[in-house]
Amino acid sequence: MTRNIAVIRGDGIGPEIVEQAVRVLDRVAALYGHTFTYTDVDMGGNAIDKWGDPLPREMLDKCLESDSVLLGAVGGPKWNDVPGPMRPEKGLLRLRAGMGVYSNNRPAKIWPQLAAASPLKQEIVDKGIDFLIVRELIGGIYFGKHETVSQNAEAVAIDELRYSESEIRRIGRIGFESARKRRKKLCSVEKSNVLDSSRLWKKVMHQLAEEYPDVELSDMLVDNCAMQIVKDPSQFDVIVTENMFGDILSDEASMITGSIGMIPSSSLGAGSRGLYEPIHGSAPDIAGMDIANPIGTILAAAMMLRYSFDLPQEADCIEAAVSAVLDSGYRTADILPKDAAGCKKAGCREMGSLIIENLRKG
Ligand code: IPM
Ligand code: MG
Repeated sequence: MTRNIAVIRGDGIGPEIVEQAVRVLDRVAALYGHTFTYTDVDMGGNAIDKWGDPLPREMLDKCLESDSVLLGAVGGPKWNDVPGPMRPEKGLLRLRAGMGVYSNNRPAKIWPQLAAASPLKQEIVDKGIDFLIVRELIGGIYFGKHETVSQNAEAVAIDELRYSESEIRRIGRIGFESARKRRKKLCSVEKSNVLDSSRLWKKVMHQLAEEYPDVELSDMLVDNCAMQIVKDPSQFDVIVTENMFGDILSDEASMITGSIGMIPSSSLGAGSRGLYEPIHGSAPDIAGMDIANPIGTILAAAMMLRYSFDLPQEADCIEAAVSAVLDSGYRTADILPKDAAGCKKAGCREMGSLIIENLRKG
């Protein structure tokens, strides 16, 4: 198989973690007889510095011409004072919207080797943590009108939150379909006690439920969900929720698994082209120090093979290599236990090399 991958190294630790994922992809290609070519794409703060725009049109076009997109992370304090529409994050939002990837899938699964890194009590972790957050990605408050106006001699800021039935229905379907492939439990998370958009969300989810009698649908208010995720995460299989709730809950969900550095995500729309990225940020404080955890990005590359290129064996091969490296006790700084008992510290590149050494054709 020959595939072209648009590669966005981004800002902060982005370049170093993406480098490891590309090395892993190259090794997988060699093992299985594929050819992956890469097209570099500038996005985020570095694109602002170079082009005066966080996502120039030609860069978006390169992504749209590729078979899939791999992204590190964008943003950093250097661009904090850049006006809203030109912020690095705006490049990411424009990329998501431009690619039409409305469904963001963020797994929260505990690696047994890292169970002790979870901040939750052992008895809660022991019940199991394995759920998926399906986050609506190109609608809601992120994409409504944002404005700051002057009223009665003071500034008033307005952010609009809107959802149409069709936007809710298409993400709802992803939720139901995902649950169908797992333990068949879907929890729709909203704030229907306050928001109109949430009341419509809930109504559409219940309409859809009639088409998926094999999936058990439940509703949960987002504040309660935030509480339940730390109280008893074992109750969740698939959570489907709107853009901003999904942003917040997925950070919480990642933390209870031990490290945000381990969690990949996929964003998909109508076709097979996806956007794959770790869910963590650009961590500018540790950029260039070769201590970042590349595993989230490497697992994002595995998701790309699985979901965009339909190469499940190759994806399994990467995930098994990650597991083998964790078994052998190697840990990047973020997942190294305080007493480091039985563990060996590895840098970013070293972790990449260890995973490559453990890739075995299945
Ligand atoms: C994420 C990030 C982004 C988001 C930021 C960087 C705009 O937090 O992918 O979760 O809010 O979607
Ligand atoms: Mg976020």
